[in-house]
Amino acid sequence: MAVIFSGVQPSGTITLGNYLGAMKSFTKYQNEHECYFCIVNQHAITVPQEPNQLRNNIRNLAALYLAIGLDPDKVTLFIQSEVPEHAKLGWIMTTLSYIGELERMTQYKDKSQRHGSGDSIPAGLLTYPPLMAADILLYQTDYVPVGDDQKQHIEITRDLAQRFNNRYGETFKIPAIHTPEVGARIMSLQEPKKKMSKSDVNSSATIFLLDEPELILKKLKKAQTDSENRISYDKELKAGISNLMAIYALITSKSIKEIEQLYDGKGYGQFKNDVAEVIIEAIRPIQERYKEFVNSDYLDQVLTDGAAKASQKAAATLNKVEDLMGL
Ligand code: ADP
Ligand code: NA
Repeated sequence: MAVIFSGVQPSGTITLGNYLGAMKSFTKYQNEHECYFCIVNQHAITVPQEPNQLRNNIRNLAALYLAIGLDPDKVTLFIQSEVPEHAKLGWIMTTLSYIGELERMTQYKDKSQRHGSGDSIPAGLLTYPPLMAADILLYQTDYVPVGDDQKQHIEITRDLAQRFNNRYGETFKIPAIHTPEVGARIMSLQEPKKKMSKSDVNSSATIFLLDEPELILKKLKKAQTDSENRISYDKELKAGISNLMAIYALITSKSIKEIEQLYDGKGYGQFKNDVAEVIIEAIRPIQERYKEFVNSDYLDQVLTDGAAKASQKAAATLNKVEDLMGL
């Protein structure tokens, strides 16, 4: 039995990218492994959040975790800020990090750019990776199922764990990344060379898991493609249509080859309709279950129990760390 940890930021509504790239795989681990799935709200506040919006996003994400089929009897679901060991080990990991290695992170480069100069770049954007390292290392994690935008962050997590182990003695397990073979990076529907993200300002670029069917169809119809009207896979030259093919493949479990054959001689109009339809059908049951959970007391209980369970394991690791460091 391996330990699995992953987190999602409540920085907006969950996207089809979050679901296909990461969350969908969570359900397959729950029967065989010790799983921790976290709502990383302390990562979300590395950029300003409106408090009521943040509260809602946390709750929506918790309800979605249940709606995709995670069973709280089998997995530990919790909110990061409710388990103070995350911030504590996060600080320790920050002290182990070097500014140069943090500045080299592409997520930092991308996100800091949007904030202009050093006097207006939130420092939390820079220290995001050591907090993420803490999230993972607290549970002695074996595997971190994430999309491939997180590769660098997992590498620095491994470096920090190794650095600590070398300096203070064997303490942390060195975690490995798990990315899906297809769908590790779902792209924006409007700029298919950019990843789909919940914080994209162009809302037609992103499919949200809670979008109404009509809206999904509308977004698909508007999706950027090329002028060839030929359904064939080429990530470089036909990024838009290839992204739609990847989505279709992931949801229907058909291979890219099968899709090419199936749509041989057919045009983008029909394909876009069909992609919309498979998305709508796939998320319909999730949306229905979501409605049952989101306002339930049961959800509060799950999160309270989850935090207690997580804290127990996290505290054991943190105690050992502090002891070794002389804290
Ligand atoms: P976002 O960038 O949408 O705010 P998060 O940082 O909360 O997402 O990431 C949550 C999970 O979703 C991570 O495992 C991340 O790798 C994955 N993920 C995010 N965007 C995508 C995408 N476009 N395609 C595939 N996986 C993604
Ligand atoms: Na991300």
